[in-house]
Amino acid sequence: MTGEVRVRVAAARQVAERVRELVLAPVNGTPLPGWTPGAHVDVRLGPDLTRSYSLCSAPDAATWRIAVLEETDGRGGSRHVHRSVAVGDELVTSVPRNDFELVVGERPIVLVSGGIGVTPILPMAAAAQAAGAEWRLLHLARSEAAAAYVDELAAYGDRVVRHVDTDGGPVDLVATLDALGGAEADVYACGPAPLLTALEEYAAARPGARLVVERFAGDGAAVRPGDHAFVVEIADGTEIPVAADQTVLDALTGAGIRVLSSCQEGVCGTCETVVLEGEPDHRDHVLSDEERESGEMMMPCVSRCRGARIVLDL
Ligand code: FES
Repeated sequence: MTGEVRVRVAAARQVAERVRELVLAPVNGTPLPGWTPGAHVDVRLGPDLTRSYSLCSAPDAATWRIAVLEETDGRGGSRHVHRSVAVGDELVTSVPRNDFELVVGERPIVLVSGGIGVTPILPMAAAAQAAGAEWRLLHLARSEAAAAYVDELAAYGDRVVRHVDTDGGPVDLVATLDALGGAEADVYACGPAPLLTALEEYAAARPGARLVVERFAGDGAAVRPGDHAFVVEIADGTEIPVAADQTVLDALTGAGIRVLSSCQEGVCGTCETVVLEGEPDHRDHVLSDEERESGEMMMPCVSRCRGARIVLDL
């Protein structure tokens, strides 16, 4: 992890069903690095266990805050946060990184959060409010018990519209977004994949909407039918074969080459690796169009190689 930050768990509490909040304080009085709304940090939870979490405190606060949904079918990171991390523990994180930056300009802003997707949205709401922007928030949850930070958002009055599925089923997304002015707004959304897919369809049908999303999970595109085998070469010349049904990350790990990773679904950016030669087949949701075009970086957890060989700076 480049740019490590040591933090101490200063407080922990349950903020919704299966959602645990941790307050992270600086160690030895060293102030925490600055960040902007939408940023996340990678938290090292064990020797091979690193996970990315959005910062959901106020960016100018002396402490950081993260909130983690316990995923029963996950790969262990959220369970560790819920069951093993205690107040007083020290953790190591990355410096904050932002792939979901809020831009407050002249256009109205509509924020959309689904479930634990509220975490990056909270500081965005605070920033939009502080900047005097025209903004609204649609806060979606499966049930009242699962809805996090309801009290905090209540301070914004009718700028926040809430919906829980247990109140008559899923939200009518199109009608609700139209009513909030989404058709002519910058729409920032974080939540489960079906919600983001529905928002992409909404934005495609409303040319005045500009959609920016943060994903929890990728689209399972790491390995597709018809993918070919290729070779990854690392900086010392070692060649590692990648089978057609294998990810680059798996091939590297199998060869004993450690690459820091977190989501392993192309959404967090933790595994970003410099490409020295060869053409990446990008399948992540992190890089911008310009970054993809440059071919200088790739996410080996999902992205592949267009040709027979790619050289990575590892
Ligand atoms: S591990 Fe998250 S993008 Fe690769």
